[in-house]
Amino acid sequence: MDILCLGAGGFIGSHLASRLLDEGHHVIGVDTQHDKIGDFSTAPGFEFINRNIGDRSLDSEELVRSSDLVIDLIAYANPSIYLKSPLEVFRLNFTENLRIAEFCVKHQKRLIQFSTCEVYGKTPAAVLPGKLSDPDNPAYAVFSEDSSDCILGPINKHRWIYASAKQLLERVLHAYGLEGKLDYTIIRPFNFIGPRIDYLPFEGDGIPRVFSCFMAALIQGTPMKLVDGGSNRRSYTYIDDAIEAIHRIVLNPADVCSRQILNIGSSRNETSIRELAEMMREIYRGRYLKPGRPLAPIVSVTGREFYGEGYEDCDRRIPDCSKVHRLLGWEPRIGIEELLVRTMSYYAETPDTQVPTPL
Ligand code: UGA
Repeated sequence: MDILCLGAGGFIGSHLASRLLDEGHHVIGVDTQHDKIGDFSTAPGFEFINRNIGDRSLDSEELVRSSDLVIDLIAYANPSIYLKSPLEVFRLNFTENLRIAEFCVKHQKRLIQFSTCEVYGKTPAAVLPGKLSDPDNPAYAVFSEDSSDCILGPINKHRWIYASAKQLLERVLHAYGLEGKLDYTIIRPFNFIGPRIDYLPFEGDGIPRVFSCFMAALIQGTPMKLVDGGSNRRSYTYIDDAIEAIHRIVLNPADVCSRQILNIGSSRNETSIRELAEMMREIYRGRYLKPGRPLAPIVSVTGREFYGEGYEDCDRRIPDCSKVHRLLGWEPRIGIEELLVRTMSYYAETPDTQVPTPL
């Protein structure tokens, strides 16, 4: 298959493009970053275009027209950016992605659109704590694609612009599908983790996702910061498990994934952020801490101190993956401890090699 992979230079995109090449597909990757594709940049069947999707001198329409399948991973997916540059998040995550989707409509191309588990927002228990008999019941946090509500916070908590943009894009794709104009699959990833998730050590004023913040703190012996006590919970999914699911969606046997929204996640790997910090600290202490080096302490900070004004958080999110299991027979295999060891090994053993380099 000729596959256009937008965002092939990112964390998920680089793992996915590598797998697609292994499976014998021809892949055209587009991205502003190129460091993560080092391993397969010269592989037969791979073409890389080092450009921004918003660059109007790039003929995106022709790239779509000449492909069999379009996979769109282009997005900002980092909460600190939602707070710092909300309009930029809307522009890239909605406007630019919509443009690609409309080329798919025009040229009748199948589209796999990456969205986010964040469209589910908060749990009902977080919004109506007094009205639920058992707010700690995890059933309130298990999100299903076709029945769960999407509960976002107020407009002045501008963290939610990201989830709103992604949700609106999903609604537009769904509407095109209703009119029979677009064959799409929407993927909602639940906190994928693995090698190449972020560049370490990170520089500048951006804040990467929590795994990378904690890993950088462990390597440097500086504090691991728990935002608001680390009580919020996430379900972590190892990248190899995720890529297996995505590859099955690419193959789309008997069109079972057409016009479907699919969660990809690992409900058994749910943990609080505090527990995540403690697990990572113990793994680091046992495997990588060099004699005489300090073990990073765990400290608490407020969300406002850490991210600034406009921050609010998803309290808990557990994927219901029964649909992807039913359609494709997929289920995740890697447990939380093992995914942390595999990912931490990558960074602990090559701590200074992940910084982006100029082309
Ligand atoms: C982000 C994106 O917004 C999601 O769309 C995406 O699906 C997800 O990453 C992902 O990796 O898949 P989020 O889970 O909120 O979502 O991202 P993190 O920055 O990793 O934050 C997770 C939790 O850790 C939050 O509660 C945050 O406040 C906390 N945190 C973060 C800390 O306690 N300390 C830190 O140093 C960084």
